[in-house]
Amino acid sequence: MHLSTRCIHGLGPSPDPTGAISTPIYQTATFAHPGVGQSTGFDYTRTANPTRSALERTMAALESGTHAVAFASGMAAIATLTELFRPGDHIVVGADVYGGTHRFFSQVSAKNGLDFTRATTDGEIDAAVKLGGPAGRGTAAVFIETPSNPTMRVLDIAAAAQSAHAAGALLIVDNTFLTPYFQRPLELGADIVVHSATKYLAGHNDTLAGVVVVADSGLAERIATLRCTIGGPLAPFDSWLCLRGLKTLAVRLERQAASADILAHWLRAHPGVGDVYYPGFEDHPGFAVSTRQASGHGAMIAFRVEDGAAAHRVLAAIELIQFAESLGGTESLLTYPITQTHADVPEPQRLALGIDEGLLRLSVGLEDPNDLIADLAAAIPSPAGAGAER
Ligand SMILES: Cc1ncc(COP(=O)(O)O)c(C=O)c1O
Repeated sequence: MHLSTRCIHGLGPSPDPTGAISTPIYQTATFAHPGVGQSTGFDYTRTANPTRSALERTMAALESGTHAVAFASGMAAIATLTELFRPGDHIVVGADVYGGTHRFFSQVSAKNGLDFTRATTDGEIDAAVKLGGPAGRGTAAVFIETPSNPTMRVLDIAAAAQSAHAAGALLIVDNTFLTPYFQRPLELGADIVVHSATKYLAGHNDTLAGVVVVADSGLAERIATLRCTIGGPLAPFDSWLCLRGLKTLAVRLERQAASADILAHWLRAHPGVGDVYYPGFEDHPGFAVSTRQASGHGAMIAFRVEDGAAAHRVLAAIELIQFAESLGGTESLLTYPITQTHADVPEPQRLALGIDEGLLRLSVGLEDPNDLIADLAAAIPSPAGAGAER
């Protein structure tokens, strides 16, 4: 079955006894037991809920996994994953992961004894991995995002899997930016895929959600038990919103990526714009890897204007595109990473990654690309003496 069909039908016909085409929302906290020691398969919604299970089955199918576990947010998913590890465990983490992930690792996980090494490139990841396996206090996990947030660096997932597995470590990939429609890390050797389903999967800027997908029943059991123990499962209504969003994932991503390609090229030709970070450019350093491991380059672009004052002017002047945090939804959003998504990354590290006052991140939505261009053309100042904006 093609992925776009799986987005709609999950693993097959509705298991609901009424034949409901849209999965019903089982808005219940608990379930009656038929008798002592008997269960319908559902006991308490923190453990399992039929609406959430339908989403989990669909996500497992889309990511080429066997099990998925859905959480109340992407951060709830990431935080729960860190409970797979013990104090003293070593984790190699991509240097430019989402700022909230960075904050969680540096302010919470580090306090709880996890030891992080940050790495920017495939080579740095390989060099940072300590052999010996978790039992011998080698590296326990490698955690990456690709393309990275916000500067769109591309990491080689298969190479990272090789580096991690040589040490007996797990490879965890945050696949939020490309989604299984464009990239399926488990097929490339990853052990765990994590999503902020708040973004493209739900897709309408209307709910928070997180999903973890694995292809190992033992790992799935551990993660589901951690979720049940810690709390933070996705609520039934939000599970339904995600299921509804997934039905249109393929068409949304095709259109958003096509518009992003148009906008990235337009931005690159604008005299008031400096570097444009978009992995769909043939001269992007990660283009070859991105083309090999993903079937599309996504709909996220970062670009640089002259300085902080110019960035502030753009954010004040956009009218159709909204100045807001988040990405992946129907509405195009412009984000200012330095004060929003990456505000908690220490300045020297932020600057080394190129996240400075002139950097803006654009999530291209479903509006007509010509309207988005008109909005940006009116908002981005051209340097004095430059020709009229296109
Ligand atoms: C790549 C990535 N991962 C994880 C998260 C955290 O997800 P959530 O906001 O759903 O908790 C975000 C949020 O922006 C993100 O961009």
